[in-house]
Amino acid sequence: MATAVTHIAALVTNDPSLGDGPLGIVHDAALVIDGERIAWVGRTADVPATDNRVVAEGRAAVPGFVDSHSHLVFAGDRTEEFNARMSGRSYTAGGIRTTVAATRAASNNVLHANAGRHVREALLQGTTTIEIKSGYGLTTEDEARSLSIAAAHTDEVTYLGAHIVAPEFADDPAAYVELVTGPMLDACAPYARWIDVFCETGAFDGDQARAVLTAGARRGLVPRIHANQLSYGPGVQLAVELGAASADHCTHLTDDDVAALAGSDTVATLLPGAEFSTRARYPDARRLLDAGATVALSPDCNPGSSYTSSMAFCIAVAVREMGMTPDEALWSATAGGARALRRDDVGRLAPGARADVVLLDAPSHVHLAYRPGVPLVSAVWRAGELVR
Ligand code: NIG
Ligand code: FE
Repeated sequence: MATAVTHIAALVTNDPSLGDGPLGIVHDAALVIDGERIAWVGRTADVPATDNRVVAEGRAAVPGFVDSHSHLVFAGDRTEEFNARMSGRSYTAGGIRTTVAATRAASNNVLHANAGRHVREALLQGTTTIEIKSGYGLTTEDEARSLSIAAAHTDEVTYLGAHIVAPEFADDPAAYVELVTGPMLDACAPYARWIDVFCETGAFDGDQARAVLTAGARRGLVPRIHANQLSYGPGVQLAVELGAASADHCTHLTDDDVAALAGSDTVATLLPGAEFSTRARYPDARRLLDAGATVALSPDCNPGSSYTSSMAFCIAVAVREMGMTPDEALWSATAGGARALRRDDVGRLAPGARADVVLLDAPSHVHLAYRPGVPLVSAVWRAGELVR
């Protein structure tokens, strides 16, 4: 049974052949949802007859947000760490251990419910596709169960056994890399599509990151990487060399790093929630865009460095602090995220695409940045199902 959504003030399709500008915006628009897919997009005046009709009454519509980076399999929280940081202490990779301990101690039911609650929280704010990483287990058993829990909530599952060196291996990081690329990989690969590594001082160096990603690639997992978050380093160059789908964070980039990203298919995924919540300098989206790199945005939802699931918040920060135009930020939060996940069925609203549609209580997508902190998402369809 098809549903027409009509009288949309401005519909962002992300398909320039369907409307104005790079976002392919159609004014006084309508779309038809048939089953899980978009069946038709055009002007309200031309909409075909359907059984159901939803009148958008002058609201804007955008594709569901595509969040390509989250850490939702965890227990506990790190309120105290955040509170201390906001009172003057700096952020290091060390706090991750707190969440590892809480996650290991939690039951499968608690971890499953916690992940589900955050996926739902993101969905109600317009995120209709979400990637979920492991990385708070750091034993073969705890990483494998983290991934099986992630897989219950999404198809976009990432093995991040190399988040930090597990505490038991603090004196022998090489042995931990052997575990992550050996028995742990064997146990985890069946659940995952992607492999990730935190390439940073205090986590894994360039050689270790290369060993992790190439071992994953041999098992059919596609690389993505936490790169250049806290300092300059080899992560971005490694990502490009290995053909990673995405290099995430990209806060400290040399001109060579920017050029490498611009000359590649590796998406630069910017995670401004992390800089917000660690009071650090934001990545320079303008520099990446001007060089010709593809940019995605994600909240990086995790209990330590960025405890937000709000893509709208990231759009507002990207526009205010990172040199993005409202159009660029919207594209990066939708089509950019889809690129980072190598998906072409989401992140756009054109015939054949998955019917992931967000209606905003605003006449234009620009309001996402113009009205920061205001809950503008008023209706959400995911794969054709009205979920909000
Ligand atoms: O993306 N950078 C590494 N991992 C997370 C932080 C995780 C944590 O602090 O628990 C991030 O920022
Ligand atoms: Fe992250």
